[in-house]
Amino acid sequence: MTMITTTTSAAVKASYDIVPLPASVSMQKGEPFMLSSATRIVYTGSDEAIKRNAKFLADYLAQTTDIKLSTNAASGKAQKNTITLCTDSKMDEEAYRISVDKKGIVITGGSAKGVFYGIQTLRKSMPVGKTDNIELSAVRIADQPRFGYRGMMLDCSRHFFSVAEVEEAIDLMALYKLNRFHWHLTDDQGWRIEIKKYPLLTERGAWRKPNGQDASCLYQAKKEDNPDLLLPSDRWRTTAEGDSLYGGFYTQDQIREVVSYAAARGISIVPEIDMPGHCLSAIANYEGLSCFDQVGWGKVFTSPLCPGKDAALEFCRNVWSEVIALFPYEYVHIGGDEGEKDNWRKCADCQRRIAQQGLKGVEELQSWFIHEMERFFNAKGRRMIGWDEIIEGGLSKTSTVMWWRNWAPQSVPEATAHGNDVIYTPATPFYFSQNEEKSSMRQVYDYDLAPASLSAAQRAHIIGVQANLWAEGIPSRSRMLYMYFPRILALAELAWTQPAQKDYDDFYGRLRQQLSMLNRLGVPYRIPSLDGFHNVNAFTDKGTLTVECQDPQAVIRYTTDGTFPNAESPRYVGPITVDQTTPFTLRTFTPEGRADEMVQADFVKQGLLPALQSVPALNPGVKTDWYDFPGVTCRLITTAPFNGSYTTPDVVIPEACKGNIGLITKGYILIPEDGVYTFALLSDDGSWLKIDGNIVVDNDREQSPHEMVCQQALAKGYHYLEVRYFDHNGGVLRLNVLDPQGKRLDPQTIFFHAAEN
Ligand code: ACM
Ligand code: ZN
Repeated sequence: MTMITTTTSAAVKASYDIVPLPASVSMQKGEPFMLSSATRIVYTGSDEAIKRNAKFLADYLAQTTDIKLSTNAASGKAQKNTITLCTDSKMDEEAYRISVDKKGIVITGGSAKGVFYGIQTLRKSMPVGKTDNIELSAVRIADQPRFGYRGMMLDCSRHFFSVAEVEEAIDLMALYKLNRFHWHLTDDQGWRIEIKKYPLLTERGAWRKPNGQDASCLYQAKKEDNPDLLLPSDRWRTTAEGDSLYGGFYTQDQIREVVSYAAARGISIVPEIDMPGHCLSAIANYEGLSCFDQVGWGKVFTSPLCPGKDAALEFCRNVWSEVIALFPYEYVHIGGDEGEKDNWRKCADCQRRIAQQGLKGVEELQSWFIHEMERFFNAKGRRMIGWDEIIEGGLSKTSTVMWWRNWAPQSVPEATAHGNDVIYTPATPFYFSQNEEKSSMRQVYDYDLAPASLSAAQRAHIIGVQANLWAEGIPSRSRMLYMYFPRILALAELAWTQPAQKDYDDFYGRLRQQLSMLNRLGVPYRIPSLDGFHNVNAFTDKGTLTVECQDPQAVIRYTTDGTFPNAESPRYVGPITVDQTTPFTLRTFTPEGRADEMVQADFVKQGLLPALQSVPALNPGVKTDWYDFPGVTCRLITTAPFNGSYTTPDVVIPEACKGNIGLITKGYILIPEDGVYTFALLSDDGSWLKIDGNIVVDNDREQSPHEMVCQQALAKGYHYLEVRYFDHNGGVLRLNVLDPQGKRLDPQTIFFHAAEN
């Protein structure tokens, strides 16, 4: 006799508080559904994609829980204890509905894609961890996306990512309902896609000697004690001559594998073969592609393809013919960015083309090339996307513009007024290769994708948004996922959820459940920054370090001797009281021990700085001297020519100050009562704050907007104030002063300067 034993653990509850937030979640009265191995997945219709969806759900549950489900075609009769997958052609393709009651779960999609998204919602709602019994409250969910283009780009040229790594990224995109994978397959530093007609593109063009980008990864790895910045050993090969070369590429079979992997997850791939610039890995390996067969860098970018040579155009068409045959999708991406046109001015072939075609110059030669290629794509049934430089020299009616240049904001109004579709990817905040300081989760979440300055007709041409990961500084899978996550969740909600429903604090609350899931899936996400303290924390008697983290699983460790915290360092478990000056270095770790970012929190014991004995006659506001300062440290501002003086009510950049800016703001600050005051100094680039000649905030470096928050104990009365600041092209300067209770003081009541007599 066979004994069958089943163990049933206590039910774990699902929560529908997911990311991206669905259009409507309506909790229902009535008993919940209990999901267990006795449940079956059934699907209606004979659509292979639905069948695949059923298997996807069963596989996921088998991998992450103890629940094993069978999958079958529906028999016709309504059945109990089932998850039913079906479609309703009246719904939009990507829309879905979920209904849960005690009998089971029904997911209805506008197509197999909609069903797939319903499954993703279910997946994210379910608790992580081994269980054989999940309780799902009765609910009705109805959902559909805001935008049709919800993208993520990965640069596989600067550093290479394997098929498995690309597929993992695609899997995670699908979990968050992103639907376009923009694959940056070629660039100066490496050609990554096999082209049968031009084997040298990958035989040679996929391999390179170690370069400066590698070196800076290694430098940062050491500085930050971070192994994710090391280059994986399997990306190297040794030549017959004994040289070590870095690289890799995808064979056409591998590309087909990735295409089918993505398709099963509702994701279209947008292949980018960047041209006419960013093409060194081709130009270096085939003659006759560039103006003078010159391989290398021009003034700013590399020398481009030569649009004057028919053979170069033939090469482009041949490459794209093979690429198009591999990617059965609507869009292809031509690149078109950062073309250096100097060679074209000097090249006889380029000049002949300009004359023959009646073009005005090299700008129009670039658009002539782009339009030629677009005609070729259109003839093959494809639509073309290009970076927003494709506007310059004349935009075709049919191309789609990917806006990346924050400093060319006219691209969006121009392209949409011309009737072209636009995809938003402005570098700040959508270049996730930038750290969170420059492209924060909040900036991504709150980005306005329907600016009021555009007409309704123009806004209708904004088809979506994308996050871009350029890989110069990203050499490994773990660094790649770290830079995407969890920021990509903010992008997913921006792309999917209607603006009226969005709320950052609510999103941030929902993030916790998602972080647990990502942890379970082995995603090395960036642990959200620690809160609760300042850069410098002053106290007169005792100070208390309190640390908060949005990630409940994060382990926080610290040192007080300036060394990097490691797995043996003391663990922060609750507020720490100090009665002496103590420099804390805090670092987060995952439960598995992966070390994340470090942050400094200095606790400084101080007496109150005494107030000035006497002050001259004062007027409100502060006085600022402007120097024509091109340098990069506040210390040297007075060495530059003096430009003029301004009085302002607050510490700000006076309106007249443009170009090279070195500012010295002087005055008096009136402190209302004895106590510890907080000074938050934000600047792009550098700044410092001195009070009575003592440095209180040192933010003195070349940087994008960065806020330092430091405290100082001050006696009631007047104190000298000096703020210095430098920048070269229209930066940011802001000083907030908070009283001992944390309330912001009105600048009008605290800032003064000596009256002229
Ligand atoms: C780009 O960042 N050059 C599109
Ligand atoms: Zn040329």
